[in-house]
Amino acid sequence: MLRALGFGAATVVVAGAGALSYRVFDTAVLDPGGGDAYAPWRSWRDTPGPLGAVAAAVLAASPHNTQPWIFGVGADAIDVYVDRTRTTGTVDPFGREQYVGLGCAVENLVLGCRARGLAPSVAWVPDGADGDRVAHVALTAGPAVASPRYDAIGERHTNRGPYDGRPVPDDLLASLVDDDLPSGIAVRWITEAGARAALGGLLVDAATALTADEQQSTDGFVWFRGNNDEIQRYRDGLVLDGQGLGPLTLGAAKLLPASSRTAGDQFWVEQTRTVHTATAAAYGVITAAHPDERRTQLDAGRLLQRIHLAATVQGVALQHMNQVTERIDREAATGAVPTFAPRFAALVPDGGAPLLTFRVGYPVRAGRPTPRRDVAEVTR
Ligand SMILES: Cc1cc2nc3c(=O)[nH]c(=O)nc-3n(C[C@H](O)[C@H](O)[C@H](O)COP(=O)(O)O)c2cc1C
Repeated sequence: MLRALGFGAATVVVAGAGALSYRVFDTAVLDPGGGDAYAPWRSWRDTPGPLGAVAAAVLAASPHNTQPWIFGVGADAIDVYVDRTRTTGTVDPFGREQYVGLGCAVENLVLGCRARGLAPSVAWVPDGADGDRVAHVALTAGPAVASPRYDAIGERHTNRGPYDGRPVPDDLLASLVDDDLPSGIAVRWITEAGARAALGGLLVDAATALTADEQQSTDGFVWFRGNNDEIQRYRDGLVLDGQGLGPLTLGAAKLLPASSRTAGDQFWVEQTRTVHTATAAAYGVITAAHPDERRTQLDAGRLLQRIHLAATVQGVALQHMNQVTERIDREAATGAVPTFAPRFAALVPDGGAPLLTFRVGYPVRAGRPTPRRDVAEVTR
């Protein structure tokens, strides 16, 4: 809104606004997506060789934008390590999502290698499932192979805004998924209105339960970055720019005091009810025969990232929505009577446990970049 007035007018408004002016500066209302925290989105194609492939990898999705990765970069191999300090705690008590995020990064890494004339060969968990090294990517010289998915790396964003109500054709959904899926992993599409409504209700119930669980709510809130100062300092986490708000609401939200945990929770449940589930054209559910295996989680992460990149190429928006499995894991971790597992199983009955859930649709507005630590911060 202020930008629409022009920078000069905005300066006048800001100069006269006292405390408000600090908040304008603080949340970068005038320069969304600016500053060093967003620089990795602008420079990811520039660097050749293995370090350039890491620049592509850091743009991958990760739970709450935790970026739980460290890269060991050599001339003929890249090792990927889990950073166990970067966790969402009780939101992800078994570290499933953390490993899925690492799988997402490996997919971008592989595409980034190929585009730079490096032929990658991935060996998963080379030191065993408990080792910190989750992948060893051996590199040999090969032809430089770019691809539509590679080109989409800088355009892929989790889109939490409204979708426009048009259905996504079944054959387009099918085309987002590779033919040769890893063993035991499947993608189920939920497109029929009744099934969509049932899963939508489950997602709202799970969001409500998660926010009522003080520990889960607190562990998630740790990753909210409420002002530009925090965004530029930490370069990770969830930010207002990633919430899919329209420009006026976004500008106003940035000017208001940073929201409290409970206000943020209420906002999320409300958005889940009125926007996320209300406008989903379809849901995708990735199921796995062995969802507890690290290898499965890494494979599923690679698949998830590939689906999201392919959707981006097709102009289809995607939002990860994992509150149901987060509640399933929380109930299992605390020994509570399972309430969400049977309800989800009834919606995806034919074999395999749900590991990842997302919605798709045609977006009303584009998703926005979120902060990233740069290559130097995540390599050793
Ligand atoms: C395993 C995993 C779980 C996620 N779960 C959710 C979720 O439940 N709700 C949501 O809005 N985003 C979820 N996300 C999306 C992340 O918050 C997002 O990837 C991160 O903030 C970076 O933003 P970007 O994807 O736009 O680059 C998830 C991502 C991953 C990889």
